[in-house]
Amino acid sequence: MAAPRYPRVASFKTLDSFRQHLAALGVTLPLDDAVAHGNDAPLARPLEADGLRAGNRFAILPMEGWDGTLDGRPSELTERRWRRFGESGAKLIWGGEAVAVRHDGRANPNQLVINDDTVGSLTAMREMLLAAHRGSFGRDDDVVVGLQLTHSGRYSRPDAGGPHPRIAYRHPLLDCRVKIASDAACFIDDELDRLVEIFVARAALAARAGFQFVDIKHCHGYLGHELLSARSRPGRYGGSLENRTRFLRSIVEGIRATTPQLRIGVRLSVFDMVPFRDTGDGIGEPERVSGEYTSAFGLTPAGGDAVLDDADALLAEFERIGISWVCTTAGSPYYNPHIQRPALFPPSDGYTPPEDPIVGVARQIHATAGLKARHPRLVFVGSAYTYLQEWLPNVAQAVVRTGMADSVGLGRMALTYPELPADVLAGRKLQRQRVCRTFSDCTTAPRNGLVSGCYPLDPFYAAHDQAIALKEIKERARER
Ligand SMILES: Cc1cc2nc3c(=O)[nH]c(=O)nc-3n(C[C@H](O)[C@H](O)[C@H](O)COP(=O)(O)O)c2cc1C
Repeated sequence: MAAPRYPRVASFKTLDSFRQHLAALGVTLPLDDAVAHGNDAPLARPLEADGLRAGNRFAILPMEGWDGTLDGRPSELTERRWRRFGESGAKLIWGGEAVAVRHDGRANPNQLVINDDTVGSLTAMREMLLAAHRGSFGRDDDVVVGLQLTHSGRYSRPDAGGPHPRIAYRHPLLDCRVKIASDAACFIDDELDRLVEIFVARAALAARAGFQFVDIKHCHGYLGHELLSARSRPGRYGGSLENRTRFLRSIVEGIRATTPQLRIGVRLSVFDMVPFRDTGDGIGEPERVSGEYTSAFGLTPAGGDAVLDDADALLAEFERIGISWVCTTAGSPYYNPHIQRPALFPPSDGYTPPEDPIVGVARQIHATAGLKARHPRLVFVGSAYTYLQEWLPNVAQAVVRTGMADSVGLGRMALTYPELPADVLAGRKLQRQRVCRTFSDCTTAPRNGLVSGCYPLDPFYAAHDQAIALKEIKERARER
């Protein structure tokens, strides 16, 4: 492992030294001196909106493991991950993981798919999660579980043969990265109409499986997100904001008409940057853009504060159409991973982060707070807290206590140390040896066709057959 460019969070042994580091970076983050526990603690308070009630302020963010069966069902590895989500103590499970609505929309041949054949397995897996929660905490009536529905669009790779991208519009910088050379990959309007119907039908299946809400995924460069920046697309799904949100609105209308009891949430990349690439020395650098760049939703200058005008306009639309639950995230793991999941060590297809990862954490936290201030009636679940490591609970409490977000979502930390919420809420000392140090193996493994999991810190994955293959891949990459 190459020496990191930035000081490790674990090297700040006291809150004061961490505060000094933030000050030296010019980063402001809310940070409580002590984390409270007990029923009145800020992180222990229930969260209620739109007929859903989650018993505390921790959420588990959606995370795929690239470990479903070829026909789209969960495997034992998938079930293990969901059981651990149940044991975490978080009362909101935001989406579980991205589940494709159709085979062609899978991001990898092992992504889960929801259809008539797989719905029984998804039902069972949701029940496993709740049983695990009951086993640890004695009840599950205050747990909200949603399912994330997606079409992977530009990042579709449904079969072992390789990528099979389907796109919203021709992109000046990303087309060559996924080897698109003609308009053939573009969805035509009629195909998007049909896809809306599929989303609506799959949402009805999710309700049948017992999920209380579906997340109509609009983040990370997948189809829903790409449509939001389809300014150059002609026709009914491109150009104006009204057209660019037609896909989402039509799905929402369809769900309301067919499955009115099902609640709807949206995971949204609230800002974006131009794609980054590895420069000769490995450090990420924004691609050079000639002329005006219109292919981003929430275009934010590299290294700058989040630009929120696009998200602001979209959230006004959410309020108008009655979507109350929003999970904020940013950018894409494919073309600007450092803003999406800040990490000290890049994944194999990434680059050395061009900024201290804490800057990326703060950018997402402040973006969420800015949007919460503008849309106080919406419920906001924030992301990108994992890199805070030891100080995650102090920041999480301060954020929730001061209303900068309603719930704190945990991604990678839930792979290494899922019971962190339970430990925090019970006032137990953090298990430091289980804290995620952002080695990015959970991304490097699937980028190389292996299952995702925490190989460095979860003994189960450390002992997994694929750990050896991963080690070899990383060694080869270092020699290059
Ligand atoms: C292995 C892995 C799989 C992920 N899969 C999904 C996914 O299926 N859907 C999604 O919206 N985000 C996904 N994400 C992004 C996370 O939900 C989260 O936004 C990101 O890891 C930042 O949060 P963190 O700092 O707590 O890790 C994934 C992240 C990782 C590391």
